[in-house]
Amino acid sequence: MSKEVFANRLKTAMERQGMKQVDLIRAAAAGGVKLGKSHMSQYVSGKTFPRADILRFLADTLKVSEEWLSGRDSLENLNGKAEKETDTVENNHKSKSGGTNMRVFKKSSKLDNVLYDVRGPVVDEAARMEEAGTQILKLNIGNPAPFGFQTPDEVIYDMRRQLTECEGYSPAQGLFSARKAIMQYAQLKHIPNVSMEDIYTGNGVSELINLCMSALLDNGDEILIPAPDYPLWTACATLAGGKAVHYICDEQSDWYPDMEDIRKKITDRTKAIVIINPNNPTGALYPKEVLQQIVDIAREHQLIIFSDEIYDRLVMDDEEHISIASLAPDLFCVTYSGLSKSHMIAGFRIGWMIFSGNKNMAKDYMEGVKMLSNMRLCSNVPAQSIVQTALGGHQSVMDYVVPGGRIYEQREYIYKALTDIPGISAVKPKAAFYIFPKIDVKKFNIADDEKFALDLLRDKKILLIHGGGFNWHQPDHFRVVYLPRIEVLKESMKKIGDFFSYYHQ
Ligand SMILES: Cc1ncc(COP(=O)(O)O)c(C=O)c1O
Repeated sequence: MSKEVFANRLKTAMERQGMKQVDLIRAAAAGGVKLGKSHMSQYVSGKTFPRADILRFLADTLKVSEEWLSGRDSLENLNGKAEKETDTVENNHKSKSGGTNMRVFKKSSKLDNVLYDVRGPVVDEAARMEEAGTQILKLNIGNPAPFGFQTPDEVIYDMRRQLTECEGYSPAQGLFSARKAIMQYAQLKHIPNVSMEDIYTGNGVSELINLCMSALLDNGDEILIPAPDYPLWTACATLAGGKAVHYICDEQSDWYPDMEDIRKKITDRTKAIVIINPNNPTGALYPKEVLQQIVDIAREHQLIIFSDEIYDRLVMDDEEHISIASLAPDLFCVTYSGLSKSHMIAGFRIGWMIFSGNKNMAKDYMEGVKMLSNMRLCSNVPAQSIVQTALGGHQSVMDYVVPGGRIYEQREYIYKALTDIPGISAVKPKAAFYIFPKIDVKKFNIADDEKFALDLLRDKKILLIHGGGFNWHQPDHFRVVYLPRIEVLKESMKKIGDFFSYYHQ
């Protein structure tokens, strides 16, 4: 597989630089690098993987990173084979290079199998195109500010006023005022048994996910994570030495978790289940019955419930978001939320987590979390200073999610525009600002969804993330972030529609 990925990327990079095989052979000869015609054609046809020195030459000449070109960053390649080949070659290279013996630093093997394509190879390619002067429309990342979603004024005023008082470290778990406001928020969401000690602020929910996985997982411990997922969960569980076991969310049932699949995947090493509700990338919102079934399974197997609820205030169609922790007072739950999405301040880096329910089950674990939290001293203090302001009073986000509001209207538009394209279908999202459409892979003969995303990027200058980036293992989905204004979405949908009118893999 690595050879195939390498061959595809090599061809892509050659095309972009306008270089043919013969040009590379000439460049190699000019630079004193031994690269024969037959080798070159074997690389392009995916028959051979190059030695490390040749790979380096190709990457340098084609102005791409070795990492990307080799396909080492792609999940499929991380089964060890390609790594081993490269290792051997690198060692050979060292001994053959006659004394210079440059030391080569490789990333830690702990990063094997860690995937984070929301900022991955397709995004790298977009960055390279941008550097070359091409304008790219980015539908790849849930970052509201660049699309004209402004932070409420009051939040900015209050942060300014308090800035000089935020110069020092805060207590590790967070400022009293911030945690009090979060505690009151937890009360409104009926999350049981929460005291001030049970609340931690973080540099975004991201930091807290990482911290919680590190504190929980021993090598080989299993944790149930949805597929598709927000890939940080899988990445952090893997990095911590755990085994991310993906349970299916079923598109036929509005993308709700498949309970049978969850049950099938529980073993005696399963410690916890993660839910993302509202969901990224599907935009699903789980009703009470679904949450109750998850609680029942967690109860039966005594699992911790980690519930990522960062989109809990971005809910449409008069639906109500229910915190799963409110249904599980007898289980140990960790609920995550923050201000990145609902208050449009992803850049300020402020999120939090709340321990609730049966804390006796998790005394030692909570100590571990506290230790890791102390080790990072505290989260960003200016951002903590506005949590109270943000969580109290009028919630301006509400104006976005009702008819006439930007997120609501953009959702209506994108759903219709995508499902009007022959060969594309989708479940209408109820929350957040993502949609995860399905591609009729037979119609377009698509076998590699990363290639699809790259081809779309190159042809139409539109960046989106293929389903594989969300640990979805069929090549038949992609995620669209529908934050841009309707006029921009219209233009991009026209281009995507046109792309699908001729695309065939
Ligand atoms: C489901 C989910 N959880 C967590 C995060 C990270 O949020 P934060 O900005 O608080 O780190 C994101 C960001 O896109 C997300 O989609």
